[in-house]
Amino acid sequence: MRVLVSGGAGFVGSNLALAWKRDRADDTVTALDNLRRRGSELALTRLIAGGVAFCHGDIRLAGDLADTGKFDLLIECSAEPSVQAGYDGAPAYVVDTNLTGTINCLNEARKHGAAVIFLSTSRVYPIARLAALPLAPRGQRLTLAPDAGGPGWSAQGVAEDFPLDGARSLYGATKLASELIIEEYRAMYGLKVVIDRCGVIAGPWQMGKVDQGFVVLWAARHLYGGALAYIGYGGHGHQVRDVLHIGDLYDLVRIQAGDPAAFGAGVFNVGGGAAVSTSLAELTELCRTATGRRIAIATEPATRAADIPFYVSDHRRITAATGWRPQRDMTRIVGDVVDWLNANRAVLEPILGAP
Ligand SMILES: NC(=O)c1ccc[n+]([C@@H]2O[C@H](COP(=O)([O-])OP(=O)(O)OC[C@H]3O[C@@H](n4cnc5c(N)ncnc54)[C@H](O)[C@@H]3O)[C@@H](O)[C@H]2O)c1
Repeated sequence: MRVLVSGGAGFVGSNLALAWKRDRADDTVTALDNLRRRGSELALTRLIAGGVAFCHGDIRLAGDLADTGKFDLLIECSAEPSVQAGYDGAPAYVVDTNLTGTINCLNEARKHGAAVIFLSTSRVYPIARLAALPLAPRGQRLTLAPDAGGPGWSAQGVAEDFPLDGARSLYGATKLASELIIEEYRAMYGLKVVIDRCGVIAGPWQMGKVDQGFVVLWAARHLYGGALAYIGYGGHGHQVRDVLHIGDLYDLVRIQAGDPAAFGAGVFNVGGGAAVSTSLAELTELCRTATGRRIAIATEPATRAADIPFYVSDHRRITAATGWRPQRDMTRIVGDVVDWLNANRAVLEPILGAP
C-alpha cells in the first residue's frame, strides 16, 4: 500500500506516518509538507530515520501534490490549525490551505482512485451556540449538569447533530466548507472519504503555542520556564477541553483505513470525551505533579475572540461504529509529553521555551 500523509511533518501527520511505517514496514509512506509550522523541520530527521519519504511541497499547488506520485490512501493532516487565523486581517493563508488546498488533495486522490481520511475539527460547531451551553462551576472546572441536554448535546458532550448555524472562525469555516465539498465528491464521484471531527489532540512532537497545542505549551513552560496565563472567562482557568492522545487517534485511523464501510459514512466526532478532559487549572496540577515544578500562572480575565468555555466530544457514534474508544487518560498524556520534553530538551527549548 502507498500512503501519502499531507502535513506529514506536523504533529499529527508525522506521528501517524511514522507509526504506520513502523507497523506496516512493506508499505510506502510519504510525508508532504511545506514546513510552515515552526518546529516542523524537526520532523525531517525522524521521518527519514523511520523510513518515511519526505516531499517538500505545498497543498495549495496541485503540481506539488502530483509530484508525490501514485498513492492508495491519503491522510490529510496539512492545515493552518489555529482558530485565531485570519483575525489579524489576513484570511488568505487559512482559506487557501484549508479549503483550496484540501480540494487539491481530493482531486489528486480522485485521480489515483485513492481513499482519503480527512481530519476535520470540533471548531465546525458555531461559537455562540457552544458558548451558550449551560455550564456551572464544579471544583476547578466548568461542567454540564448530568441530566442536562439539548439539540446535539448532553452530559456526554457535543454530538454530530449539534446545530451548525452561526459563525465559527475561519478555521472552522474552512474545515466545514471542506466537509461540504467532500460530501459532494462522495455523491458525485464516489470518492471514498472518512471525516473525523477532532477535539484537541495532544502528545509528543506537538509544537504547542498559545493559540494551538495548549497541553504541550503548559507542560513545556512548567519544565523550561516562561509565562503562562489563564485567559478569558474571568481568568480562573476553569474552561474545559477533551484531549485525545495521538496514539489513540492512530489506533482509530488504522481501524478506519482497514474498513471499506467507514469511507461511505458521514462524519464522526472524535476526541477524548468526558472521561479524558481537563480544565486549565486541572492541567496545571497535572503538570506540577509530572514535572515537580511550580510556576506562577497569571490571569487575564478578558475572553479572546473565537474562544469557547467548554468542548467535550460525544464520541458514541464512532465508538458504536468501530468499537474504538480512547485508551490513554490525562495523566498518561501529560506524562508522555513531559518524558518527550525531557528527552529532547536541547532541540525543543529554543522553540517551546520562554520567548
Ligand atoms: N492538534 C489538534 O488539536 C487538532 C484538533 C483538531 C483537528 N486537527 C487537525 O489535524 C490536522 C493536523 O493538525 P496538527 O495539530 O498536526 O497541526 P500542525 O500545525 O502540527 O501540522 C500541520 C502541518 O501542515 C503543514 N502545512 C501548513 N500549510 C501547508 C500547506 N499549504 N501545504 C503543505 N503543508 C502545510 C505545516 O507545516 C504543518 O507541518 C489539521 O488538519 C488540524 O486542523 C488538529
